[in-house]
Amino acid sequence: MSQAIRYTDYGDADVLQLTDVPLPEPGSGQVRIAVKAVGVNALDWKIRKGFLSEGEPLPGPSGTGIELAGIIDAVGDDVSQWKAGQAVFGRSATGGAAATHDLAGADEIFGKPEWLSFEQAAALPVAVETAYRTLRQLGVREGQTLLVHAAAGGVGLMATQLARAWGATVIGTAGEPNHAFLREIGAIPVTYGEGLTERVRSAAPQGIDAVLDGSGRGVLPDSIALTGDPEKVITIADLTAAEHGVRFSARPGPAGPALEAVLPLIGQGRIHMPIDSVYPLEKAAEAHRHSENGHLQGKIILTVGQ
Ligand SMILES: NC(=O)c1ccc[n+]([C@@H]2O[C@H](COP(=O)([O-])OP(=O)(O)OC[C@H]3O[C@@H](n4cnc5c(N)ncnc54)[C@H](OP(=O)(O)O)[C@@H]3O)[C@@H](O)[C@H]2O)c1
Repeated sequence: MSQAIRYTDYGDADVLQLTDVPLPEPGSGQVRIAVKAVGVNALDWKIRKGFLSEGEPLPGPSGTGIELAGIIDAVGDDVSQWKAGQAVFGRSATGGAAATHDLAGADEIFGKPEWLSFEQAAALPVAVETAYRTLRQLGVREGQTLLVHAAAGGVGLMATQLARAWGATVIGTAGEPNHAFLREIGAIPVTYGEGLTERVRSAAPQGIDAVLDGSGRGVLPDSIALTGDPEKVITIADLTAAEHGVRFSARPGPAGPALEAVLPLIGQGRIHMPIDSVYPLEKAAEAHRHSENGHLQGKIILTVGQ
């Protein structure tokens, strides 16, 4: 038997219940992972609230959690590269990583280096893949100035540090309590809200070459004004992107190249993904509430069986 966080109706965090479920069996090309840690993402509560359901009711009991770290405890057919007992991390194949056991595609997981804890490893897949994908789409390179909206969020932190490692200057929007934190990771912090463009112009008199919007809070017109070109702006969170001629980057690419680029920088201490807070699996509802309230400093993690 296995346990998983499940919900049967869209709604607020109280719908999340720790439930006994059958042990999932890996299909062809999949592994089963005894989960140790799960990264909580803004996407988790958006799905739970039905924001992505287009008005359709929930088709059946659903899980939550898209990234995890743990130990392989079974492999499916056609899996030769992994065996039981190996410590791995990556994306869930089911969207139900908040569980004692979950499934992942054999090509979608990575060996966990010993120097990375399970909590740290579970914090990486979504933030690293999204940051790497969007910076590549923007063509960020040495000598440029990048504006990151929501720079203190999971994706924003990773994008900020990766762009810094690639030699770019980063202006990051955040609430004032996060400004010292952003300075520590090499960004020039700017408060969001009214008067944003003037503050960004005075922080970056050289001009803004590219913008990554991780906030989704109506910053696209200001971002276009700052770069002079919607092509130089990408959002991962603003559904009005098309109205502004801005690209919405949504489709996750393979995480392999992103992790290959970022893991060595983490190992060298040049990139760091802070853990905002850790909750046991059974407190998943509390973790979702915390994510929904925003104002994090890094990732929220659920731990399993500790
Ligand atoms: N399209 C994709 O592929 C993709 C992938 C991953 C995530 N996402 C989406 O991208 C967004 C960011 O994800 P995340 O995991 O980084 O979120 P997160 O960790 O929950 O961070 C949210 C951040 O938003 C900031 N914030 C709150 N109000 C703001 C405002 N008015 N202006 C600017 N920043 C503000 C907060 O900063 P302060 O504490 O400083 O206020 C907080 O650090 C979410 O909407 C998520 O669903 C999309």
